[in-house]
Amino acid sequence: MTKPRTGRVAKIWRDGELVNWDDANIHVISHVAHYGSSVFEGIRSYETPTGAAVFRLPEHIERLRDSCRIYRMPLEYSVEQLVQATVETIAANDLRSCYIRPLVVRTGEQMGFYPIGVPIETFIICWNSEILYLGHDAQEAGVDACVSSWRRAAPDTFPTMAKAGGNYLNSQLSKIEARQNGYHEAIALDSFGFVSEGAGENLFVVHDGALITSPIAAGILHGITRRSVIQIARDMGLEVREQNLPREMLYVAHELFFCGTAAEITPIRSVDKVPVGEGRPGPITRAIREEFFGIAKGRVADRHGWLTPVPIGAEAGA
Ligand SMILES: Cc1ncc(COP(=O)(O)O)c(C=O)c1O
Repeated sequence: MTKPRTGRVAKIWRDGELVNWDDANIHVISHVAHYGSSVFEGIRSYETPTGAAVFRLPEHIERLRDSCRIYRMPLEYSVEQLVQATVETIAANDLRSCYIRPLVVRTGEQMGFYPIGVPIETFIICWNSEILYLGHDAQEAGVDACVSSWRRAAPDTFPTMAKAGGNYLNSQLSKIEARQNGYHEAIALDSFGFVSEGAGENLFVVHDGALITSPIAAGILHGITRRSVIQIARDMGLEVREQNLPREMLYVAHELFFCGTAAEITPIRSVDKVPVGEGRPGPITRAIREEFFGIAKGRVADRHGWLTPVPIGAEAGA
């Protein structure tokens, strides 16, 4: 019988120790609970023919380090230590595939938002459940998106290169608006009115055979899946451009897709009820999706060294 996948696992990594799920608590007076002072990552580990493998783990941990640096959070661990800790946490929970959530939070017991000197705690959580961020058949059928009335933060307000908990208040507003109006996902514009990204993922336009995506100055998270798509497309000989996208480009795109760790590669079939191309996933989106999963799931050679193997079960001698 296959094990039920509820999300919950046995062990969480907490500052160098593997603790029981129920013991990974923080106090209600923690700085993070009041002022949103957390940075985090979302990572996937896939099952491959040779065992579990984490997709682009060092790059995710490097972004976590950079998020800490932006918010002046003194991270006590090196990238190498957190990579190793992530592998150990997956192995300790014996997970063939999972979603991984490294999290750095300001905790302590004080009142007031000034963060310097407030204790920092670091966790690595594995989530043992399928993440279907945009719904069950989203990746095959495509999703309906709308342009949100909520803009992304202006460049001199919140640093969007940091993957900070507080950034997701903005994402929550655009996501609520989209869902309440019957769409799967929201697309946010930046403060200048150019296309930024989805509520929880980056976006690519396919136009005249070329891929175009918003630049990092357009209020986006500098996505690791986005970087992977750029590489895969270039490997296929496709032209890729990072340039400002006017909103109307969404209505004349030949193909459009979201990409991110949670969304993976999800075709967009309409924007504001205007069908994208023929209203179904196009050939370039399908080819990129195929190659992306081919590499992530070990069916295609890992030519760029994107996979970190995890010794679990029999391979670990357990
Ligand atoms: C707002 C936002 N943009 C983009 C992304 C995609 O980033 P990545 O591909 O590194 O997961 C995410 C996913 O975490 C996100 O939350």
